[in-house]
Amino acid sequence: MRCPRCLREHEERTKRCGCGFQFVVEDERELQQWFDEVRQILQSAYVAAPTPWQQSGKGGTFEEWVRLRIPISECVTHSGSFLDIGCANGFLLECLLHWTQMKGLELQPYGLDYAPQLVEMAKKRLPAFKEQIFLGNSWDWQPPRRFTYVRTEAVYVPDNLRVPYLKRLLSEFLEADGTLLVTHYRSSSEDLSRDWLDADLRADGFNVVNTISGFDGMGREKCRVAVVQP
Ligand SMILES: C[S@@+](CC[C@H](N)C(=O)[O-])C[C@H]1O[C@@H](n2cnc3c(N)ncnc32)[C@H](O)[C@@H]1O
Repeated sequence: MRCPRCLREHEERTKRCGCGFQFVVEDERELQQWFDEVRQILQSAYVAAPTPWQQSGKGGTFEEWVRLRIPISECVTHSGSFLDIGCANGFLLECLLHWTQMKGLELQPYGLDYAPQLVEMAKKRLPAFKEQIFLGNSWDWQPPRRFTYVRTEAVYVPDNLRVPYLKRLLSEFLEADGTLLVTHYRSSSEDLSRDWLDADLRADGFNVVNTISGFDGMGREKCRVAVVQP
């Protein structure tokens, strides 16, 4: 995993980066500060980026974006509502609408992000759905409804809060027969031979019913979506 502050790569379960950034936050009083710092780093980088996919945190070419995000659309097998947690500028939602339409499915897109400037960009990108793009922190946001599909990454909360975070998404965000998609993205600078997050999720007792992977142009697995059901 990558330190958001200094971008150094670390083995999974590292507690603290050499720069001082904490992957584990045990003192509740430090939690807000942790979210504030990560939000500020991500928002300033994404807002300044030149392409829609870089404004969603994915460097490289459009082809690579498609290769490493289309696996999310493969996980969508029926029509319904889709909440993209960490929707950034809304580009993933926009692409998912097209990709699932091509499969004859109809998604009602919803977005959530804690970075206000990114939420505004997402509303501009998806004006027809601007009432469905929300500003909030997924750690404590109260959803106004339940969703057929919810996508998130585990790194949106400190490592030690991952299990309660994902459990809350399953119990409070999903429809009764809904599906949680936990995406794990990796960059070229990471050790790509390491275990993926789905192994940890299974060890933590989550019901991982499938995984779908995305590969870069050199055939390296750089994205894996864990399909989790309640
Ligand atoms: C890498 S981008 C994801 C973009 C797109 N959804 C995708 O999967 O490619 C991560 C986004 O998550 C947002 N984010 C991170 N932690 C969050 C949290 N706790 N609550 C809400 N948004 C969060 C960031 O502001 C950023 O826009």
